Amino acid sequence: MHTITSATITDVSTIRQLAEDTWWPTYSPILEKEQIRFMLDLIYNEDTIKKQIEEGEQIFLLLKEGDKAVAFAGYSPYVAEPAAYKLHKLYCLPETQGKGYGRILINTVSRIAAGTGATKLLLNVNRHNTALSFYQKMGFDIAREEDIAIGPYWMNDYIMQKPLIP
Ligand SMILES: CC(C)(COP(=O)(O)OP(=O)(O)OC[C@H]1O[C@@H](n2cnc3c(N)ncnc32)[C@H](O)[C@@H]1OP(=O)(O)O)[C@@H](O)C(=O)NCCC(=O)NCCS
Repeated sequence: MHTITSATITDVSTIRQLAEDTWWPTYSPILEKEQIRFMLDLIYNEDTIKKQIEEGEQIFLLLKEGDKAVAFAGYSPYVAEPAAYKLHKLYCLPETQGKGYGRILINTVSRIAAGTGATKLLLNVNRHNTALSFYQKMGFDIAREEDIAIGPYWMNDYIMQKPLIP
């Protein structure tokens, strides 16, 4: 039995721990450990996540099994394009992957975004992340490649998008 709630600032440490526990197995095969540490410290910095939640820059959905948080998604309107939303983050703990939670969180974000009149959901995924096939299964197509400098490192991503049904 799972539930989904919008995270508040009391959930910041839970989100940071979920990211720690998911990022290492996800990115160790494709990125140097220094880059993983650097990106975790930057993106999941306590103050950054707190500010994103407090100021509504990003909405975090927490998926729980009982009272244990096992997955989360982060999304927001996409400022660069009208009528578009962006899925910034989607992570399920390794032991819960394959249980349908990724699909449930994407469907939830899609429904919320479509409810605001958005017609498109976008995301970035590392070009070597096996999640690429998952996103294709969920209806996303590759729009283009994007190489983003992050400190001294590079993120070699695809931008993917899927139409939202009103
Ligand atoms: C990628 C991720 C979000 C998918 O969520 P999940 O809960 O494991 O996936 P689901 O159980 O909802 O799977 C839905 C479908 O996609 C398939 N699928 C899941 N992961 C897949 C993968 N890596 N490659 C191909 N298909 C995949 C499932 O088999 C299922 O197929 P079905 O409809 O035929 O049964 C999750 O595995 C995860 O957190 N991975 C590590 C972190 C990560 O890479 N996040 C994305 C960062 S951009």
